[in-house]
Amino acid sequence: MQALRLGLLGLGTVGQGVVRLARRNAEAISQRVGRPVVITAASARDPGKTRDCDLDGIRIEADPMAVVRAEDVDVVVELIGGLDAADTLVRAAIAAGKPVVTANKALIAERGNALFALATDAGVTVAFEAAVAGGIPIIKALREGLAGNRIDEVVGIINGTGNYILTRMQNEGIAFDSVLADAQRLGYAEADPSFDVDGIDAAHKLTILASLAFGMPLAFDSVTCEGIRGISTKDIELARQLGYHIKHLGIAKRRGDAVELRVQPTLLPETELLAKVDGVLNAVVVTGDAVGPTGYFGPGAGGDATASAVWADIVDIARDQGQIRVPPLSAQPEGIRALPVRALSETRSSHYLRLQVADEAGVLRSITSILADHDISVEAIYQREPRGEQDAVIAMITSVIGESQIIAASAAIAELPAVHGALTRMRVEHPGD
Ligand code: NAP
Ligand code: HSE
Repeated sequence: MQALRLGLLGLGTVGQGVVRLARRNAEAISQRVGRPVVITAASARDPGKTRDCDLDGIRIEADPMAVVRAEDVDVVVELIGGLDAADTLVRAAIAAGKPVVTANKALIAERGNALFALATDAGVTVAFEAAVAGGIPIIKALREGLAGNRIDEVVGIINGTGNYILTRMQNEGIAFDSVLADAQRLGYAEADPSFDVDGIDAAHKLTILASLAFGMPLAFDSVTCEGIRGISTKDIELARQLGYHIKHLGIAKRRGDAVELRVQPTLLPETELLAKVDGVLNAVVVTGDAVGPTGYFGPGAGGDATASAVWADIVDIARDQGQIRVPPLSAQPEGIRALPVRALSETRSSHYLRLQVADEAGVLRSITSILADHDISVEAIYQREPRGEQDAVIAMITSVIGESQIIAASAAIAELPAVHGALTRMRVEHPGD
């Protein structure tokens, strides 16, 4: 049978992984598909650059549009990243009737509604398994494996770089910046690593997961997003004293007729599954009304792991022979309904507070009395002795309270003369709350 011919846009970390996998598993892939799948062309900004893969027989172009338009390319695989250039290329592929595979979560989260409408009208598949949680087949699990459920919750560690940084801060006490440099060297980070550390990459992924889970349009602008820059080794250590690990989570919860969508540093009880997921690994817990909680775990970034997900889409496209077997966002396009997204101020949660206070009698009483005035009880508390310094450090976990309660109480506590510097606050998740 005639081979299915791929054109790769981008030969970076993921592009090279896709080529390596093609070389290594060509026979198994062709068995699964029923015909050979070959890469005929690829593009890179610098076509002459040495790559960590065998490019023999692949035509290398400087212009990605030449690959999209090439007559010997049946499927376009977009691995450039970013918004405008990728958008133009994907639109051109759709217009040419060529199925698209992309790992680009920014593109899907921010432009996906328009791109899927175009693709559906044109009868062309746009597949994006690699866009969320690297090598974990979470898109397929949500869109197909759990299709009989009402999905109530999706909670996960969905940025490999962030989890790698937090894990090394926790285990080795290394400061943030030097760990980030290692994550970049290993090919985990985005071209602009602030997307990883400021939570934007996780917000892109949460946008996609929420849309698949709840049958809503992609609503990136509705995700409340907080990154990991503010987390210090001090907080990691204090959280551990209280029996918690700090993880950067994406949280999408159905609450009545509305949903909560947030990305945030979170304290998790150390016994929880997600608290034990370390390094570049990602994990997602999806709760369906019939099946209950289900967990998905694996490498969240890196060339070969991500290439695994890219190839899953290529194999699907090859097997489906150009037909759109499943709609891109799980629900049929006419079934997608906007859902109200609750503002952060309307959410409830338990909180971690860290304060630096003068080492003098009555300080703790003043703090707990302010908390009591705001109807907040303290569930756990740890005080580190000053050890020669003038100030003591207090860390505490509150009961589950409204966001406005903790904001008002924190402001009042910060006014106390014995409290020095700003309070640090993070939300605490107890699964099932
Ligand atoms: P990368 O290493 O930076 O590679 C990007 C590739 O695109 C390079 O080959 C580059 O050419 C080319 N390129 C960049 N800008 C271009 C432009 N304006 N026009 C034409 N070509 C351009 O990126 P990556 O890590 O492979 O990521 C690719 C995509 O996969 C992104 O959407 C990313 O979010 C996503 N993703 C990455 C990972 C991961 O672990 N890295 C995991 C999941 C998803 P040169 O090589 O010549 O510079
Ligand atoms: N920069 C991303 C991460 C790549 O670290 O998770 C995988 O999407």
